[in-house]
Amino acid sequence: NRLFLLLFSDGCLSNPCFSGAKCSSFPDGSWKCGNCPVGFTGNGIKCKDDNCPFVYNPRQYDYDRDEVGDRCDNCPYNSNPDQTDTDNNGEGDACAVDIDGDGILNEKDNCPYIYNVDQRDTDLDGVGDMCDNCPLEHNPDQVDSDDDRVGDKCDSNQDIDEDGHQNNLDNCPYIPNANQADHDKDGKGDACDHDDDNDGIPDDKDNCRLAFNPDQLDSDGDGRGDACKDDFDQDNVPDIYDVCPENFDISETDFRKFQMVPLDPKGTSQIDPNWVVRHQGKELVQTVNCDPGIAVGYHEFNAVDFSGTFFINTERDDDYAGFVFGYQSSSRFYVVMWKQITQTYWSSKPTKAQGYSGLSIKVVNSTTGPGEHLRNALWHTGNTPGQVRTLWHDPKNVGWKDFTAYRWHLIHRPRTGLIRVVMYEGKKIMADSGSIYDKTYAGGRLGLFVFSQEMVYFSDLKYECRDFCPSTFEDFKMK
Ligand SMILES: *[C@@H]1O[C@H](CO)[C@@H](O)[C@H](O)[C@H]1NC(C)=O
Repeated sequence: NRLFLLLFSDGCLSNPCFSGAKCSSFPDGSWKCGNCPVGFTGNGIKCKDDNCPFVYNPRQYDYDRDEVGDRCDNCPYNSNPDQTDTDNNGEGDACAVDIDGDGILNEKDNCPYIYNVDQRDTDLDGVGDMCDNCPLEHNPDQVDSDDDRVGDKCDSNQDIDEDGHQNNLDNCPYIPNANQADHDKDGKGDACDHDDDNDGIPDDKDNCRLAFNPDQLDSDGDGRGDACKDDFDQDNVPDIYDVCPENFDISETDFRKFQMVPLDPKGTSQIDPNWVVRHQGKELVQTVNCDPGIAVGYHEFNAVDFSGTFFINTERDDDYAGFVFGYQSSSRFYVVMWKQITQTYWSSKPTKAQGYSGLSIKVVNSTTGPGEHLRNALWHTGNTPGQVRTLWHDPKNVGWKDFTAYRWHLIHRPRTGLIRVVMYEGKKIMADSGSIYDKTYAGGRLGLFVFSQEMVYFSDLKYECRDFCPSTFEDFKMK
């Protein structure tokens, strides 16, 4: 009967928690003890080790050995540590016959990961318009050499406002809006639309800029309309839980799906990175000693804060790990990279590369794209014409330590060009770039970076859209 109680009523009634930890129950009958991820779960197991921290499963059965217990695994017989479930139907993609839930089985679906009942394919290349990187040009191979998600066949790379969207595909070609937000879906981005929700009230007078409310009802007279009271962007995620409360398309940090971008794919120097998703996209691990590479998420940002923890779980090697922001293509992005010790790259061709220990912030604008030129330029602390410019390097040259968790915090405000990166070890500041100004790129995507370093764990990744500029260091402090 204890089990019944735990699963179908308030699981905390029978007080399953250990060491007097506070118990919290959830409407679905599940419960947790203390503050995972630090305490113990009700299974009596440390949160980080419990394969179902929110479900009663003291035996921890895990048939497919993907570190997600059978009781909470959305594909108990197929290994899928990421637990990706595109259509949110409770059945993971790894075992679903119709991943996107559009009623068309995967093998017949011209966009297996995107709901497209009509299967429209204007250019008849077998790839549906909804997922075609050139929907109006026949390109069955979908080749996209610069990894900007626009196929070579229709890629002009003419981008007057430098926001990562080429002019003919940009919903505001002359105003930077890397996120392309267009809440009324009228084809004109919010950044250049005077009435973002098309309710006839101009944005500067509208008490709900993103919610259609021509009546402007505001019962409590607080200046914010009833229609958008607790949910500004109308995405059904209340503002207090929404990482981007003014963007319908982004509501939580998600690296379950990402694009792998090798930065020296042809070189024989080292192998390409191997990224493994763990803990449902909350953690990414890069396991091999490799050429430089990025795992870049799909959300696009104007102003953003990005933080995460990295931990190098080996004594071997002393090379680079970090992250990217403002990613627009494999030739255009910002990178923050941290090296343990000073070292000359073993291949001095095509350019000599000296990497200093310490944190660097660099802007990549490569005339060649991925390959040995970019590889050596990334290693080098300093500038390499036509490839990489170093915006900042830690004058103290403090390197990272093995088996140590570091937390980074980035702010990027493309409008003013403000960039600041602080790296913490616990509460101690290991490196702080201070305010740096660079306007090369007006935003883009976020990702993780490695170069020649194995066993890098990236975890507790978090991004938030933020438009205010911190005026003091206190405002900027890690939350
Ligand atoms: C990138 O480099 C190219 C070629 O060197 C240059 O023409 C262009 O202005 C640069 N782009 C930015 C955004 O700095």
